[in-house]
Amino acid sequence: MSNGAVFDVAIIGAGAAGMMCAAVAGQRGRKVVLIDHATKLAEKIRISGGGRCNFTNLGTTHQQFISNNGRFCRSALLAYTPQDFLALLAKYKVAWHEKHKGQLFCDHSSEDIIHVLRAECELGKVAWRMGCTVNDINRQENQSFVLQTSTGIIRAAKLVVATGGMAIPQLGASDYGMKIARQFGLKVVEPRPALVPLTFDADTWRHFSTLAGVSLETVVATGSGKKKPQFDEDLLFTHRGLSGPAILQISSYWEPGTPIMLNLQPAQNLESALIEKKSGSRQQLLTVLAGMWPKRLVECWLENMGIAQDTRLADMPDKKIRELAALIHDWQLIPTGTAGYKKAEVMKGGVDTAELDQKTMQAKKMPDLYFIGEVVDVTGWLGGYNFQWAWASGVACGQEL
Ligand code: FDA
Repeated sequence: MSNGAVFDVAIIGAGAAGMMCAAVAGQRGRKVVLIDHATKLAEKIRISGGGRCNFTNLGTTHQQFISNNGRFCRSALLAYTPQDFLALLAKYKVAWHEKHKGQLFCDHSSEDIIHVLRAECELGKVAWRMGCTVNDINRQENQSFVLQTSTGIIRAAKLVVATGGMAIPQLGASDYGMKIARQFGLKVVEPRPALVPLTFDADTWRHFSTLAGVSLETVVATGSGKKKPQFDEDLLFTHRGLSGPAILQISSYWEPGTPIMLNLQPAQNLESALIEKKSGSRQQLLTVLAGMWPKRLVECWLENMGIAQDTRLADMPDKKIRELAALIHDWQLIPTGTAGYKKAEVMKGGVDTAELDQKTMQAKKMPDLYFIGEVVDVTGWLGGYNFQWAWASGVACGQEL
């Protein structure tokens, strides 16, 4: 029986973090193999950012990440910054632009990012095993890892797990990385979908489902206390609930059974604006509100509050105006759930950071075993932060191998 192919480093998962790590380690002279069960390379990069990949965020700090240990990601993020990634893109003349709040996208296509990573891996003479399933991993004492795979045995002195999160299982996402962590005695923070639409039961939502497609600027919050997470972004009504950047952001913080709080008119104090307009006004309330909001939303809202569509602003008692304004500024809703991994952008939770060294991503209890990228309990906000974590954790690990 063959002893299998021998490498210094085997990396499971040829996505964002895995390719970055392979390129760095390979260019440092390590003999690296990248293993992925998908036949197509880096599908998540390909579909990200609507096909243009929001590959980083200029404002990245550890504060845009959620984790049981909020400071774990700090060291890797400081060591490999958005500017470092931009320097890599400059080497390949990849054109990019800033869209919104520091979010950087490719001008042409997310394929540019895949091309850069693949080219960097080629420079590091990385070996590829695409369409390859790992059936079993063994290690005796502190010896090499032995991987039984669908393409034969692979032996490696070091093993890096870069299998990502469980979002979009139809693209090959799996919980394999967390299984490997458990196999080697490492703790895992319970995973769940994040950056995901929120859903409501059919009865609560019947009234609002007609608003599917309506979008508006909001401030959304959840939790309690002065430091409760809050986002100032767009909201989108859907047939089953709420989506859009505001909801995706808050979904990562939302705890089942608790409300989300929406300010649907953050730009002004609605109560004083309406009371001011009231005197001498001949306008209908609907017309006044439609100057600030999509008309469909106003119609639905008035109906929901039992206010006739032809009500004139002048006929609205101040008390009723106050009630209406209070509800619009602080609409509290308890979602029944999320749209799940099929619609989520990322997974929250994963390999417990307490098990890993923050500078190298090595497991403290199991030398030569590493975890990088989304499989680790480090979840970024929407806006390019998750890729920046993938690059930074990949580099931190690659420089150690
Ligand atoms: P990634 O998912 O990139 O790679 C993991 C690899 O492991 C995959 O190639 C997979 O096939 C492989 N794998 C899994 N299980 C395996 C197994 N059992 N055996 C072998 N291989 C296995 N982020 C951002 O910053 N900006 C953005 O614009 C977007 N946009 C976006 C859109 C959509 C629709 C989604 C779903 C996600 C995003 N993201 C994003 C999130 C971003 O894609 C994600 O955080 C990174 O790709 C994570 O990088 P990783 O390398 O950790 O995992």
